[in-house]
Amino acid sequence: MEIKKITVLGAGQMGNGIAQVCAQAGYEVKMRDIDQKFIDNGMATIKKNLERGLAKGKITQEEVDGVLGRITGVLDLGESVKDADLVIEAIPEIVKLKLDTWREVDGAAPEGAILASNTSSISITQMAAVTKRPNLFVGMHFFNPVPVMGLVEIIKGQGTEDSTVDVIREVSGKLGKKTVLVNEAPGFAVNRLLVPAINEAIFAIQENVATVEDMDLAIKLGLNWPMGPLTLADFVGLDTLLYISDYFVDEFKDSKYRAPALLRKMVRAGWVGRKSGKGFYDYSSDEPKPVRFH
Ligand code: 3HC
Repeated sequence: MEIKKITVLGAGQMGNGIAQVCAQAGYEVKMRDIDQKFIDNGMATIKKNLERGLAKGKITQEEVDGVLGRITGVLDLGESVKDADLVIEAIPEIVKLKLDTWREVDGAAPEGAILASNTSSISITQMAAVTKRPNLFVGMHFFNPVPVMGLVEIIKGQGTEDSTVDVIREVSGKLGKKTVLVNEAPGFAVNRLLVPAINEAIFAIQENVATVEDMDLAIKLGLNWPMGPLTLADFVGLDTLLYISDYFVDEFKDSKYRAPALLRKMVRAGWVGRKSGKGFYDYSSDEPKPVRFH
């Protein structure tokens, strides 16, 4: 099956990145969100990214115009998917919201369209089960920032057909991404390692093993990570990390995945990282300042 038209559900951090790389690969893209202001913000981010590429001489003005011309913002869900070949969902990680959305998409999208979720943890099989096409339902997990990160995890649910995986592998290749195939399991491959690793760094802060900046520097230089784990925690969002940790404990029935009390306390305080202006660093000035916990 040849994919030409892609609908991306959600214009947030992940959704606008996915829409951008799809349009850059030449696909006709519809980017859907529930409020025009989310679509406008998503389009503004895409424009900013492309203009940065233009300023660095990596793309031409003609290419920028071409990419922007291939993305249409849409508010109505049914309208957004009615002629899609592939729907990629990047809406908030709320199980009920995902299931309700997939039921509606299944009823409105063409019969043969492939449905892919960018969920970071929710069961592909559970979402596929509310549609009439579990064979065409698959996980397509991108990484933030989408235009930069080179991986897509393809997640095979209980009913996902191999031919569906093949199509997603081909599309991901056209987006310039390498793929790994993961049989459904909580956290797939990457988050299963990443989330406990970040949590361990937060336990170390909680236990006053080192300061925030030293913990980050230790891992950045000692392990050659591009960002220290606490900078990365703020980048991913502490609310997301807490959600995934709690989900892991529920699914694996294993307390080794438990979230540090400090993470829960920070989320309760609204300190969820960069997007809220405060997490392990304070982002109120140009240079982020590490927060002191002891
Ligand atoms: N959007 C688009 N492009 C971006 C960007 C963004 N948000 N941030 C940086 N870039 C681009 C820059 O323009 C630059 O492009 P160029 O090479 O063409 O000039 C390139 O990325 C490098 O950027 P910088 O030089 O400004 O900064 P760094 O070299 O420090 O790289 C980084 C920034 C790519 C974000 C790097 O720090 C990094 O890789 N960090 C780790 C990110 C990571 O681990 N992501 C995964 C998170 S987990 C996840 O997403 C899964 C979820 O389920 C939880």
